[in-house]
Amino acid sequence: MTWWRPGVLYQIYPRSFADSNGDGIGDLDGITAHLDHLRGSPGSLGVDAIWISPFFRSPGADFGYDVSDYTDIDPVYGDLAAFDRLLAAAHERGLRVLLDLIPGHTSVEHPWFRAARSSRTDPHRRLYIWADPAPDGGPPNGWTSTFGGSAWEWDEGSGQYYLHSFYPEQPDLDWHEPAVHERIGEVVRFWLQRGVDGFRVDAIDRSIKDPLLRENPAAMSTQRRFDYFRGQYHLWNKDRPEALDVVRSIRRSAERVKPGSLLLGESYIPIERLARYLGDHPGDAFDLVFDFPFLDSGWDAGALRHAVEAAEAHFPPSGWPCRALSNHDNPRHATRFGRGSLRAAAMLSLTLRGTPVLYMGEEIGMADVPATEGEALDRAGRDAARTPMRWRNEPGAGFTSGEPWLRIGDTSSVNVADQSDDPHSLLSLYRRLIALRGASAALSGGSYRGLDMPPEGGVLAYVRESGTERRLVVIECRGQDGRHDPFAAARGRLPETGRLALSTDTSRRASGDLDLSGVELSANEGIIVDL
Ligand code: BGC
Repeated sequence: MTWWRPGVLYQIYPRSFADSNGDGIGDLDGITAHLDHLRGSPGSLGVDAIWISPFFRSPGADFGYDVSDYTDIDPVYGDLAAFDRLLAAAHERGLRVLLDLIPGHTSVEHPWFRAARSSRTDPHRRLYIWADPAPDGGPPNGWTSTFGGSAWEWDEGSGQYYLHSFYPEQPDLDWHEPAVHERIGEVVRFWLQRGVDGFRVDAIDRSIKDPLLRENPAAMSTQRRFDYFRGQYHLWNKDRPEALDVVRSIRRSAERVKPGSLLLGESYIPIERLARYLGDHPGDAFDLVFDFPFLDSGWDAGALRHAVEAAEAHFPPSGWPCRALSNHDNPRHATRFGRGSLRAAAMLSLTLRGTPVLYMGEEIGMADVPATEGEALDRAGRDAARTPMRWRNEPGAGFTSGEPWLRIGDTSSVNVADQSDDPHSLLSLYRRLIALRGASAALSGGSYRGLDMPPEGGVLAYVRESGTERRLVVIECRGQDGRHDPFAAARGRLPETGRLALSTDTSRRASGDLDLSGVELSANEGIIVDL
């Protein structure tokens, strides 16, 4: 089995993980200094790989997602030597490293774009998407950008519009152009040759657009939110059939250098269309694509089950789901679901069939820290989920000795040091769940079967199975104490008793036998039972 199926991934937002030089911004040496938290020492979380959000040279209009040099490190984060040290230290611990590949757009400051806009005949011109004004002199069509406004920006110097799916500072590359395949292929090969283990591939559904620039229809209220935003249904500039060719191109480049590199795609599209990006067979396109059902589901047993089983239904038998509870683009789940459900949410994430991707700080229960007026930096309003990691309960939180780039928030109980010493902390629960998952073929790689529970009970229950090993997971989601019968609809086909392997309520429960016809759960408690 590939390492990433049973594995647990961990997302690092490098600006906010650890600052080694006191400038208030996280950096690569800071990450290297904190690898013990992740793997390779007795108190580590035990994750298998880190995905580091972009640290390439960038003017920072989109905090690194606007790249001006794909193969160099932005000085704010260090340099290539610091990166090599980080990679070596991670690999020494058996921790794999994934980078963020941004194939859809560069920064306006990238030398390719500077050359492209310098003259209409410059060979770099064709790397980007240019068009003449519409007859009325306005943008070539009505496409809107993710962050608002027209997706077209007028370039005075060369007298045409260029396309940008995100900020105007992020001109879109033209993947209909073979030279773009070459250039991004070189980037992929550069980092794999340096030793990285794969990529999280950014915004893949936005990578390629209709070459005829056809107009998008207006949004209808029945359409899913992933496809319609900014007033229109993004039929012609999002999730085009050719996007799979983009993935395959990246895959071919990766295979030339390091066969078996992990490619994890990011895309906000409905689950029915997501599996397409896995290609026709394993190793054809992406290995994993993010499924983001928990960003919208709310903490509700029915909605969670639906979200989980949609992936089960729509992925091919060879496919494997990949989910995150939080990331750097959305409010944290401690804020969305509420603090009461954090322990149960951890159990859910780490016991489902699929690869979980933890977001830095969720293991200690970090919630959003909203920026006050005047403090906001991200124009799309995502600062609150990106605030610095809290290592210790002290000014600067052990994150920085200087002035942090974003407000840190309350460190009093939400910090790594205090939770490390407390066997009943959320951090300790994460460690135990990851260890249990790693030691269990059923939890890390087995089949999934959802159990039909009475909707009024507010309980989610499922069985994970591999060979003779069977584990039952039962999670109370309504925030009420109660007695539940997870096998009510499956009596006779499953055993009457089981052995408690782990409860989220680590202080209350001792392990032992359970009568499964009446399982007592406290509010928001989750349990794993050996059958
Ligand atoms: C990244 C965002 C970024 C956007 C444009 C996303 O999906 O996760 O942070 O703003 O792509 O690159």
